[in-house]
Amino acid sequence: GCAGNAGGGGGGGEGDVLTVGFAQTGSESGWRAANTESMKEAFSEENGFNLIFNAADNKQEAQIAAVRSFINQGVDAIVIAPITVDGWDDVLKEAKDAGIPVVLEDRTVNVDDDSLYASWVGLDFEKEGETAGAWAKETFTEPTNMVVLEGTTGSAPALDRATGFATGSEGAPITTLDSQTGDFTRDGGKKVMEGFLQKYGDSINLLFAHNDDMGLGALDAITAAGLTPGTDIQIVTIDAVRDGMQALADGQFNFIVECNPLLGEKVAEVVKKVVAGETVEKTTIVEDQSFTPEQAKEALPDRKY
Ligand code: AHR
Repeated sequence: GCAGNAGGGGGGGEGDVLTVGFAQTGSESGWRAANTESMKEAFSEENGFNLIFNAADNKQEAQIAAVRSFINQGVDAIVIAPITVDGWDDVLKEAKDAGIPVVLEDRTVNVDDDSLYASWVGLDFEKEGETAGAWAKETFTEPTNMVVLEGTTGSAPALDRATGFATGSEGAPITTLDSQTGDFTRDGGKKVMEGFLQKYGDSINLLFAHNDDMGLGALDAITAAGLTPGTDIQIVTIDAVRDGMQALADGQFNFIVECNPLLGEKVAEVVKKVVAGETVEKTTIVEDQSFTPEQAKEALPDRKY
């Protein structure tokens, strides 16, 4: 169960067990499932943690409420994978006033005062977008019509991947016909792609999906429209989860930029240090690779998620 013990600091006998509240975004994607598993593994009892896990179903208000409840329970530390970049100042200030350190994982926030969180362990989303854009620029030398499936509106990966793609593809003969959010879900990707296909039909040459899951949902829509994904419409996505890598190996996707979800161990290490009062890096960026169909075939047998 997730019901919390009141946090550490207190009664004897428990040794160094750290009670940590983790406010996860939700369970929108395969990436998220892998990230949750990585966090639960790293914040296990064997590793000296009592983890209170909350998933907010991608609703910022619910996530902020979860953080408030962690503060009320007097946890030793709070970890947040912030759904959106904005809206965090008040609750982070409440945590600070309560003397509870906050570590961000995966996504980051926009706050006026950086001391409101101790550390961020995450990914370079802008570079991911730039790598995807550079691939598009290299691949498309003739006039090309693109549609975009954006991630959750106002989230760091959606904002930064859009910026990065524009930089990476600068100067390429690519026109953006449309760009809408599919909220990082398969269902969202499918529905929005159906709309794109109704509107633009076979004039679409390229799809940039901000994550694999939306790209996978779009495959159904493209096939249902009588088009061949990977050929009629080339597809570039971000994440490199197993299902995405399989689609790439099968020629339905054309390129994937990785986003590494296995952040748990690093986050746990940072949390232990922060609680012990040691200095930590303000920012830790985990490296990402990228994959062509050939590389996906090679990598698939050993892929962990
Ligand atoms: O913040 C990382 C993003 O969130 C992943 O790319 C996406 O799949 C997830 O939902």
